[in-house]
Amino acid sequence: MTRGRSGNGKGPVASLDPNRPTPRRIYIMVGAPGAGKGTQAQLIAQALGLPHIASGDLFRAALQADEALGREARRYMEKGALVPDDVTVRMIADRLAQPDATAGAILDGFPRTVAQAIALDTLLARRSERVSAVLYIAVSETELMRRLSGRWVCTGRQQHVFNEMLRPPKVPGICDIDGTKLQQRPDDQPKTIRARLDKQLPPMYEVIDHYNELGLLMAIPGEQPVEEVTAALLASISRGTPVAVR
Ligand code: AP5
Ligand code: MG
Repeated sequence: MTRGRSGNGKGPVASLDPNRPTPRRIYIMVGAPGAGKGTQAQLIAQALGLPHIASGDLFRAALQADEALGREARRYMEKGALVPDDVTVRMIADRLAQPDATAGAILDGFPRTVAQAIALDTLLARRSERVSAVLYIAVSETELMRRLSGRWVCTGRQQHVFNEMLRPPKVPGICDIDGTKLQQRPDDQPKTIRARLDKQLPPMYEVIDHYNELGLLMAIPGEQPVEEVTAALLASISRGTPVAVR
């Protein structure tokens, strides 16, 4: 069957049909805790005019609003464990159905297990869509520990990210972007950082393998200044050539 034609083969070419929605651009940011997913996703989202959808930010916002979702997520987050797949997939599916995601989204921290990746692939396939690219920010463990122990996050809706040593705010304790107070995340205590790395790196590598096999993975060295990582990510997106890793 010719792709893009209607069932009887005589109809208009689907891509020229003005009523057919353009497939969304879905970019996934993958990386260990502290790799810079949030920092980069905010910049890439701005550059591409797409919303930044971060699973961790959504859980923290639900917790701050004292919603059942937030209270359930906290039980796992405080131990450095992953929130169960069904809860997480439902939350992201709802978020992707919001009007601001009609052109696509930058997904930060989702999917984090192969089950989540398959659920996302299936969700998109129902609309004849697929993931556009998976951007893996590679950072060594020593650097991750250094970054997470000095991180401060703003209390505004966007949860902008700073670092007391590596990326300090202009005024200590205040977000440069929206002026809200900065705070440290409860899961940035050394014990919880260790648990996050131990529990979350193995499933992350499985997700990387999943997208590597689908030819969608792009690996970017993350141990360079923020601006250089952003430039490398944007260059990879516009080149569109996957780079195999591991
Ligand atoms: P989440 O909020 O996603 O946390 P995470 O994956 O542990 O990642 P982080 O937010 O800690 O790091 P990041 O990569 O965003 O780095 P950042 O840009 O902040 O998830 C929290 C929890 O929610 C999880 O532990 C889990 O329980 C649950 N959860 C979330 N998603 C889930 C899912 N899909 N399934 C199940 N459970 C889920 O940068 C870190 C620091 O480094 C900052 O201080 C920053 O200023 C600095 N920095 C960044 N880039 C650079 C650079 N190039 N040079 C120098 N410093 C830099
Ligand atoms: Mg983050």
